[in-house]
Amino acid sequence: MEVVILPTSEDCAEIAATAIERLVHTKPSAVLGVATGSTPIPLYRRLIRGRHSDASLSYANVHAVLLDEYVGLGREHPQSYRATIRQELTDALGIPDHQVHAPDGTAEDLQHEGQRYEAQLAAVGGVDIQILGIGSDGHLAFNEPGSSLTSRTRLKTLTARTREDNARFFGNVNDVPHHVLTQGLGTILEARHLILLASGTSKAQAVRDAVEGPLTAQCPASVLQWHPHVTVLLDRDAASLLSRAEYYRYTWAHKPAWQGI
Ligand code: F6R
Repeated sequence: MEVVILPTSEDCAEIAATAIERLVHTKPSAVLGVATGSTPIPLYRRLIRGRHSDASLSYANVHAVLLDEYVGLGREHPQSYRATIRQELTDALGIPDHQVHAPDGTAEDLQHEGQRYEAQLAAVGGVDIQILGIGSDGHLAFNEPGSSLTSRTRLKTLTARTREDNARFFGNVNDVPHHVLTQGLGTILEARHLILLASGTSKAQAVRDAVEGPLTAQCPASVLQWHPHVTVLLDRDAASLLSRAEYYRYTWAHKPAWQGI
């Protein structure tokens, strides 16, 4: 796991965007795993700027796969994650709608929707780079504390804390769905490169538990410690509780320029 501490979330976005652009240049049909929420917004804005300033960069053959979706919100609902990612990223990048994949929160057979989505992920060839945020309770995608470390895409119930955290998108906590479909932690671990972004003091404890705590279902994001290629990009505030911060800064400062993340 490589932990990178930078002054601002824009600096983190720049590093992640460079990795994604390099991937798309070398593999035009890359599969990009995308997260929703506030954290990746600077990255998505930076990617959109990059697409406009580099005429040789095309996302026309890229597939975007979502981590999760609210149960009960159709694809046209403005707060559905599918509609959100189209509005914030994929439409502006020129990724065709049929190449944007998400669990269907209105599927008739919700019990088997996870299996259908897993088959879809396999059909596109698996995820090359997966962008991740972290919940203030340590959740990854919508795998809340207690989630099996080998879980697959399935239905989950959100904690009261996550519903409160996400109420800002809905205006009222009562409108936040109780249930979601989410990639499992085992599913996420199959992506070839995981990039976790975190910013702000509200994430500092969860980041510390995930990066320096024990591997435990009580902090689902700690499962990242099990993956061979993880980059954790943190702004100063999100990194404020890390006990080995000095070492992470030292390794970044001395990293060979050719290495990339
Ligand atoms: C969203 C997702 C969640 C968020 C997390 C952080 O697709 O999977 O795990 O990444 O809840 O949300 P923000 O970035 O809004 O703090």
